[in-house]
Amino acid sequence: MLATDQPVPFFDWGSLYAEKADRYAAIIHETAAAGGFILHHAVAGFERALADYIGVRHAVALSNCTSAMELGLRAGGLAPGAEVVLPGHAFIAAAQAIHDAGGRAVPVDMDESGRHVDPAAIRAAITARTAAVMMVYVNGTVCDMDEVRAIAAEHGLPIVEDAAQALGATFGGTQAGRFGQWAAFSFYPSKTLGCFGDAGALVTDDDALAERVRAMRNHGAGADKVIREDCAVWGTNSRMDNIQAAVLLDKIAWYDQAIARRREIAAKYHEGLCDIAALQLPPAPGTDPRRFDTFQNYDVYCEQRDALREHLAAQGIGTILHWGGIGLHRFRKLGLGGSLPNTDRFLGRALLLPMNHMLRDDQVARTIAAVRSFF
Ligand SMILES: Cc1ncc(COP(=O)(O)O)c(C=O)c1O
Repeated sequence: MLATDQPVPFFDWGSLYAEKADRYAAIIHETAAAGGFILHHAVAGFERALADYIGVRHAVALSNCTSAMELGLRAGGLAPGAEVVLPGHAFIAAAQAIHDAGGRAVPVDMDESGRHVDPAAIRAAITARTAAVMMVYVNGTVCDMDEVRAIAAEHGLPIVEDAAQALGATFGGTQAGRFGQWAAFSFYPSKTLGCFGDAGALVTDDDALAERVRAMRNHGAGADKVIREDCAVWGTNSRMDNIQAAVLLDKIAWYDQAIARRREIAAKYHEGLCDIAALQLPPAPGTDPRRFDTFQNYDVYCEQRDALREHLAAQGIGTILHWGGIGLHRFRKLGLGGSLPNTDRFLGRALLLPMNHMLRDDQVARTIAAVRSFF
């Protein structure tokens, strides 16, 4: 088999470690040998680096993004049964967090493009029971936050952000993570900033909220890790492992390079596929001067999506469907619902091509050739 005939997996998990194996081995060894496992120096170091990267006052390192969202909602005082409006094109984690915080998720439709929530749908879903608007920036592209902020302000509602896929993405020069009361990030291995296990963080400019979440992540304990009898908040165990924090602290220093490579790959996909009328591509990097997209994923939209997917699989090209191809409103047994035609249309036809900073040029070229050979 020629090198160019090698399969291109959707995500090569082993390469995540292999790309800098010696360096990571040293980091993991040093952290473990020093006995720093839970809430030690690397956690505080990463929190500072993350807060500085985004330009917020506080980052609280947590065990994952789902937990970050739940704690953010609880610390923000979500009332039992209160509604949180969010896009239907979102991961179940967001609805899960709302449910676990005692609220009710109200998924709303996307705009015609299917890539961004429809601000008019947010407005229409707001009721007297609405407590917050949750934004979800799928694939590292931030929605039109001018409109969303205007709607939220009109109704006196806080915005909260599921920015799991959007570290470093901007709209109008403002980074994801700075548009609301708090934002949650994921460092799951395949994320743009991924570690070697589960990890997440909440960021905020609100001193009191940060302090509450910091206590809640360790059963209500203070900074000295002692749980006292005057503890006034039910917490949980949502601590980030020190080893993950040490890896993330290293990776955030060269995160911009990883994003630059993703944008380079997106530009190559665009150049190689933009003449195929039956494919709708995400906007090429730099097309929209209001946005800096980070390409957590590269999704193409195609009426013959399933046939294209089979064709690519036969050629050894790995692809996946967003959330298995279904929006939040489809989880009817979990009490979610609504009619979201744009979300259904988009998720029924969207396909994610291989996209990560470790992909080689020949793998990108092979993927482009395989897609082209279908049409
Ligand atoms: C948009 C979005 N929100 C939330 C999550 C959940 O993140 P975690 O696995 O860190 O809880 C993910 C992870 O895939 C995600 O993509």
